[in-house]
Amino acid sequence: MDIKPEILDGSDPTSVERAVTLLREGGLVAFPTETVYGLGADALNALAVARIFELKRRPHFDPLIIHISRKEWVNRYTKNVPAHAQELMDRFWPGPLTIILEKRPLVPDIVTSGLATVAVRMPSHPVALDLIDRLGQPVAAPSANPFGYVSPTKAAHVARMFAGKLPVILDGGSSTFGLESTIVSVRDGQVVLHRHGAVSLEELLEVVGEVHEKGGDSVIDSPGQLPYHYAPHKPLKIIRGPEEITTPESSFLAFRTPSLKPASRRVRTLSPGGDLREAAANFFSFLIELDREDVDIIFAEQLPELGLGKAMMERLKKAARKDTLVTH
Ligand code: TXA
Ligand code: MG
Repeated sequence: MDIKPEILDGSDPTSVERAVTLLREGGLVAFPTETVYGLGADALNALAVARIFELKRRPHFDPLIIHISRKEWVNRYTKNVPAHAQELMDRFWPGPLTIILEKRPLVPDIVTSGLATVAVRMPSHPVALDLIDRLGQPVAAPSANPFGYVSPTKAAHVARMFAGKLPVILDGGSSTFGLESTIVSVRDGQVVLHRHGAVSLEELLEVVGEVHEKGGDSVIDSPGQLPYHYAPHKPLKIIRGPEEITTPESSFLAFRTPSLKPASRRVRTLSPGGDLREAAANFFSFLIELDREDVDIIFAEQLPELGLGKAMMERLKKAARKDTLVTH
């Protein structure tokens, strides 16, 4: 049965508490930010984060921004903050600037698509800040639109886009910027612009003097086509089942509990019962673990290509193709 999303007044603490309870239970909540509305989950709960990809129907995984409510939290979730990153935070936070930083291990791999970095932003919208602060930990959120749609700037947009799929939307009025946050990283002391957004290049330049903008792949505007996406170092082969494993010096990424014992030395099962959401929550961490094993090849069991299975298969196919390119 479809649920009618409840649009709750985000300035009412009781509403925000309801949203927090949902987030603690691993649910999703749409909330306002000054840029666009976000589709939020508890960033430290991998299963909850998997639900974001499922609900958005993203055909591929794309790393998410974690939203914090206090600048001090940066050191809880990231390390080695470069001087320029600190200057940018001091100038633009709270506000529409996202900074890519080295992540600490407690940030789940599904949030970052297996990358060693995490995108962090402290929004300025009071309802967003209240929500995150009451939760006491970061909220992972992409824009609250189904894949391929425009980003929503009003609670009513979100309600229409996710009719029947989202129990609670916090209303915080129209987003003032109506444009996503600007995304930057700092590489070797150099600020790199990844996405143009609500903070202009000119504004960035006032703080840091120089910004690497175009050229090569430094400006990345097509999500999912990211050249820095994680791919395992070991060769990877997609197989239909454990019976196709020929080398014992291999690791095996099984979808569900295998019916026969795989010949492989190292096995990780994404979801014993075959649940795609659970599988997605484990996907990147397991792939990274298997890649680190002392094996020659990773075998990955084919996943059903529906829902989140499609996103995972796309990653696996990419990884398998990469090997073909390297070895032939
Ligand atoms: O204004 C915004 O940024 C909104 C609100 C909700 O905060 N969020 C938003 O999220 O636009 P999303 O998921 O639609 O876009 C985030 C972008 C993606 O294109 C992703 O590739 C990039 O951030 N990104 C996230 N983590 C990254 C990382 N570690 N390295 C490089 N790019 C990253
Ligand atoms: Mg988006």
